[in-house]
Amino acid sequence: MKMIVIILGSLLLITHSFAEPPVPQVTPEIQKKQEITPEQQKRIDLIAQGEELHGKHCVRCHGDWVYKRANSRIKDYAALTVHVQRCATNLRKFLRKKWENPEISAVSAYLNHQYYLFETQ
Ligand code: HEC
Repeated sequence: MKMIVIILGSLLLITHSFAEPPVPQVTPEIQKKQEITPEQQKRIDLIAQGEELHGKHCVRCHGDWVYKRANSRIKDYAALTVHVQRCATNLRKFLRKKWENPEISAVSAYLNHQYYLFETQ
């Protein structure tokens, strides 16, 4: 009985190693397409920075439901930036920290990427 188990087991091992799928070959062209351009990297960094700022400062009064509500008055990217600016001004009362353009554009980029999906130009 034990012998049969051993034989069956090794047979399974052998067939399994034969059944190993071939490693997919990535052609240089495909590899090139997958590379992130400096512009894309800049955008990724901006969104990450916005996410961090948002998580730290923007969840005091509302959760993300406010970005998903059906009656949102925000209809384009410019309006989004204006609203982020407005809320950041309200935020100042709590934190005594003024947000300048870099913070506004990072958080706007993050909110757009995550929720609004407006054209940015
Ligand atoms: C002092 C409280 C307060 C803080 C802090 C605050 N918000 Fe708001 N936010 C509001 C209120 C209230 C509304 C809803 C206003 C309305 O109905 O137009 C709102 C609405 C919004 C909207 C519009 C949502 C939509 O689609 O209709 C955006 C975008 C927004 N906030 C972004 C932010 C960001 C970014 C921050 C951090 C900088 C932030 N908020 C921090 C109070 C706040």
